[in-house]
Amino acid sequence: MSLKNVRLEVMQFLEKDVDSLMDKYLIPAEKIWQPTDFLPNSEGPNFLEEVKEIRELSKELPYDFWVVLVGDMITEEALPTYESWLMDVEGVGQLENNGWSKWVRQWTAEENRHGDVLNKYLYLSGRVNMKEIEITTQHLISDGFDIGTDRDPYKNFVYTSFQELATYISHNRVAKIAREKGSKQLGKMCKIISGDEMRHHHAYSEFVERIFAVDPNQMMMAFHYMMKQKITMPAHFLRESGDKIGTAFEEFSNTAQRIGVYTSLDYVEILEKLIKRWEIDKISNLNDESEKARDYLMKLPSRMRRLADRIKIPENSFEFKWVEPAKL
Ligand SMILES: [Fe+2]
Ligand SMILES: [Fe+2]
Repeated sequence: MSLKNVRLEVMQFLEKDVDSLMDKYLIPAEKIWQPTDFLPNSEGPNFLEEVKEIRELSKELPYDFWVVLVGDMITEEALPTYESWLMDVEGVGQLENNGWSKWVRQWTAEENRHGDVLNKYLYLSGRVNMKEIEITTQHLISDGFDIGTDRDPYKNFVYTSFQELATYISHNRVAKIAREKGSKQLGKMCKIISGDEMRHHHAYSEFVERIFAVDPNQMMMAFHYMMKQKITMPAHFLRESGDKIGTAFEEFSNTAQRIGVYTSLDYVEILEKLIKRWEIDKISNLNDESEKARDYLMKLPSRMRRLADRIKIPENSFEFKWVEPAKL
């Protein structure tokens, strides 16, 4: 049987449990928070005062902070790219409306609230150039992405397990900075977003765990493949108005590193967590090729840690069109 057919069979086998996994990891619309829970009530009598307060508090937050929040928001707003990518993964049947496609839809519906709430807050803050942000968002969605997972569910679930944890870390750190600088409401908002990301991380990690239980060799090879190639961030094609594809990404990630929201050390620690979570060292009955892949994975964190220590980040802020230079 071809590898592709085995993967399809495994996806079908696991599909019977997707309903209960949705109950375990996703929250119905009526029960989960909504963006308006964290934003001034536009129907209420105090709306303008509440907006004024946000604008006052926003002045306390530094330039790099806004760049990172904008980049995070744009990354969340590119959700159409992620949904269409996942819908195309082998075993996810949009037309058949199978369990996996239901998962993708319900996950998308939850994720959609993140860009929504961040967008509205940024609009009210008065610190950012919304038009430039909107142009970047439109570009990012139209440029799409290639995360190197192919249509392989194993590789895609490694990617999402990694990425959900990465977004947990960055939203959580942004929350901390906001809180420290007095923007309590923004802090709460980012904290609750990070909680969603963590829940999603656990879900995707469980998918991988279940695949390891039935197809350990190929799951190991997929994990190895993704880590050898390195996890590309979903906004790697980020660009500002008038610029070429991908030109803004490096400075955005430098900015995130500079203020400690997401660093190369975090990357290594995520990898370590995944290795631990999936008990890579304990998986048995591997063939020679997968044994080698396991060896590679087990040694990778310490190798990457040495490299991460050597990376130097530019000290000065990079001026983005998203945040007015006058307000540097
Ligand atoms: Fe998100
Ligand atoms: Fe997420």
